[in-house]
Amino acid sequence: MDWEALYQQKDTGWDRGAVSPALKHWFEDGNITPNQRILIPGCGRGYEVVALAKRGFDVTALDLAPSAIAAVRQALHDANVSATLVCSDLFDYQPKHSFDIVYEQTCLCALPVEQREHYEQCLYTWLKPNGTLLFSMMQTGAAGGPPFHCDWLDMHELFAEKRWQWQQEPPFIISRPNGLRFELGFTLRCQKGGL
Ligand SMILES: C[S@@+](CC[C@H](N)C(=O)[O-])C[C@H]1O[C@@H](n2cnc3c(N)ncnc32)[C@H](O)[C@@H]1O
Repeated sequence: MDWEALYQQKDTGWDRGAVSPALKHWFEDGNITPNQRILIPGCGRGYEVVALAKRGFDVTALDLAPSAIAAVRQALHDANVSATLVCSDLFDYQPKHSFDIVYEQTCLCALPVEQREHYEQCLYTWLKPNGTLLFSMMQTGAAGGPPFHCDWLDMHELFAEKRWQWQQEPPFIISRPNGLRFELGFTLRCQKGGL
């Protein structure tokens, strides 16, 4: 998939044009608290990057499409706030430090299914012990993609319980403007030993 071409052609149907309602939910339920270091892989135009930067968070936003990163850079400038921007394939990204939170908003569903295991390893590596994965899990109910449907059982197998602690509560529904697709909001904790 040539994501940069999609941005240049303005063929970005996934883009809400606004902050996802999931962000408000995760603030309200206490999953996002002050002074956390947050990574947003596949950030797109980065509405959540700007919203978090405005609240003073240390945010790193990553996307492989230069046009997406340019849009985030402009939005940060317009809002007079800052974040760390990385224009890279996420599979090449090796941060110097780990994160308290990874905000995963429809990046996994953009990847070819055969790359999912590698992506899970990246997420696990990027997070601190007991770090939080805020996961907006795309539901299309259709074959093919992107976006590729994130079947709950497939996700449970991918994010296995020996590495990830899943929330006990049911997920919440994250609506989309066109109403056909939606996401399920899950919180997972990264189970690995500290230093
Ligand atoms: C479906 S869009 C979601 C964008 C944004 N998170 C949102 O919710 O609007 C997927 C994004 O992931 C980016 N992406 C896809 N594959 C990537 C990769 N291997 N490394 C980094 N970014 C990638 C695309 O450029 C695109 O911006």
